[in-house]
Amino acid sequence: MKTALITGITGQDGSYLAEQLLKKDYVVYGIVRRSSSSNFERIKHIQDDVNLIQGDLLDQNSLIEAIEKSNPDEVYNLGAQSFVPTSWNQPVLTGEFTALGVTRLLEAIRLVNKKIRFYQASTSEMFGKVKEVPQNEQTLFYPRSPYGVAKLYAHWITVNYRESYDLFCCSGILFNHESPRRGLEFVTKKVSDSVARIKMELSNELRIGNLDAKRDWGYAGDYVEAMWLMLQQDEPEDYVIATGETHSVRELVEIAFKHVGLEWEDYVVVDPKFVRPAEVDILLGDSTRAREKLKWQPRIKFEELVKMMVDYDIERYKVPTYSSKNYDIPIL
Ligand code: NAP
Ligand code: GDD
Repeated sequence: MKTALITGITGQDGSYLAEQLLKKDYVVYGIVRRSSSSNFERIKHIQDDVNLIQGDLLDQNSLIEAIEKSNPDEVYNLGAQSFVPTSWNQPVLTGEFTALGVTRLLEAIRLVNKKIRFYQASTSEMFGKVKEVPQNEQTLFYPRSPYGVAKLYAHWITVNYRESYDLFCCSGILFNHESPRRGLEFVTKKVSDSVARIKMELSNELRIGNLDAKRDWGYAGDYVEAMWLMLQQDEPEDYVIATGETHSVRELVEIAFKHVGLEWEDYVVVDPKFVRPAEVDILLGDSTRAREKLKWQPRIKFEELVKMMVDYDIERYKVPTYSSKNYDIPIL
């Protein structure tokens, strides 16, 4: 029986990964940070099956203690400040969590047990102003946000610890992946949630930013499987994980509204407030290495993903506790 420790277990990916590892009979530990209110919505269905340890990527000792307590075979570092626009408001804090947090965790592993296998949640945001289309493991990086810059540091420190200390470290360069559990501020969830509220007559518009941006969107449940596969290989390596299809925000909006029988042009308002200081115009991943070596492939296609998210949100708003009054407006 293997043991895994997950940072970011309360997040979208952490919740799916914990579920999948439990199904594989792992003992699962998760690091959670202290909060005055409970933040376990995404893991409440498995809360009794996982072991939660208080800790923070900002606090070196808490990470050492978490590794000592859990004694893991594998550590998955999914914790981060992950929302790109927030990284312009809080660039220093983003760097502390998302960049230096990784060094703290790697140092803790080096100190406690160098045999631990380590997964770092790298991102297609590192390609930013892309140097080629599609992007693969050899494509040059050109990040376009403080978040992307912090993740690039995290990526290279992971490579560096592999090369300096012979640690088994893998960096998964994951393209956007979504699900009904996606945070409300990300564009797919913002759209599915708004479409559901409009359909339920709780709202009558969707204010949005750049409709022309293109992303390679996959399903989070498929992507966490790739994280696990990376740590089961004989040699540590970095892998691009993507669907190989790109779609615009406009297409996303069109599909979501059409699914509930509405015309998107009647409800969507472009609001410059949601346009970013520097945009990543197009992401399209080439995951040939993962498909050949890991035998990984995505199962859920873009259109199915969008419909799944809209259907989920419509069901959610049928529960009477949700109304336009207690709905939290996402802050961008
Ligand atoms: P998410 O839903 O935003 O979850 C982030 C997690 O990090 C949450 O559990 C959060 O805890 C935790 N966290 C934040 N700051 C922390 C700190 N100082 N100490 C400990 N934990 C902290 O993100 P996600 O979508 O699941 O993504 C998981 C990882 O993959 C992130 O590193 C993200 O940057 C990266 N990534 C995501 C995508 C994507 O499309 N989803 C693509 C590429 C890479 P709280 O619940 O307490 O806030
Ligand atoms: N959030 C948001 N809100 N995005 C909008 C909006 C809006 O109202 N209107 C247009 N967009 C565009 C953004 O400008 C961006 O080009 C695209 O939609 C996707 O935005 P997000 O869903 O916020 O995701 P992201 O691509 O910036 O970042 C996500 O994916 C990365 C991987 O490429 C996050 O999950 C990152 O953590 C992850 O690393």
